[in-house]
Amino acid sequence: MSLLRAFIAIDIPPEIRQAISSQTASLRKDSGRAVRWVDVKNIHLTLKFLGEVSSANLNLLAQTLRAECEQTAPFTVSVEGLGCFPNLRRPRVLWIGLVAPPELNRLQRHVEASTTRLGYAPEDKPFSPHLTIGRAREQASPAELQALRSLLERTTVTNLGTFTVDEVHLYKSDLKPEGPIYTQFATARLEGNK
Ligand code: 2AM
Repeated sequence: MSLLRAFIAIDIPPEIRQAISSQTASLRKDSGRAVRWVDVKNIHLTLKFLGEVSSANLNLLAQTLRAECEQTAPFTVSVEGLGCFPNLRRPRVLWIGLVAPPELNRLQRHVEASTTRLGYAPEDKPFSPHLTIGRAREQASPAELQALRSLLERTTVTNLGTFTVDEVHLYKSDLKPEGPIYTQFATARLEGNK
């Protein structure tokens, strides 16, 4: 039985990914080698990272995801702000923020609970919706990190738009030296209130 890396995520419309790209262009240019940037086409909102999944379980995961999504109505989120995890003093993951109604957290809790029931490791950190745009390189020097901190402090990201979440995807991820390749395995539509 083959194993593959999988995760559950919400796609971001191309115009919002484009807006992220334009508003972070100087940040990307000026951060030098300190950051490994996420390819704009790969920016997404992760609901659940599953890790290694047996290919035999993909259909069951898709079914479970569809069952959760059937009960959730579509909702609108707003994309705004720039931040980093764990904090600005130690910037590891650079993200664009989201302002979302309680439905997003509710959907994430349901996905988390149903994948945990299937035996996938529960997430140990509370859900904090974000779009990862880059990750600080492990090899970044203290000077490079300091330069990154001041760049982050100087960069303002305004509202980048809103979009309606009406589907969630189960993705396979292939890690390649040139960057990950994400492939949709299944789509679950949000069908609540229909
Ligand atoms: P992120 O957006 O929170 O960084 C696909 O690899 C997605 O799964 C990534 O975008 C990342 O979400 C998340 N991910 C990758 N590796 C992970 C890990 N070891 N633990 C938790 N989430 C991970």
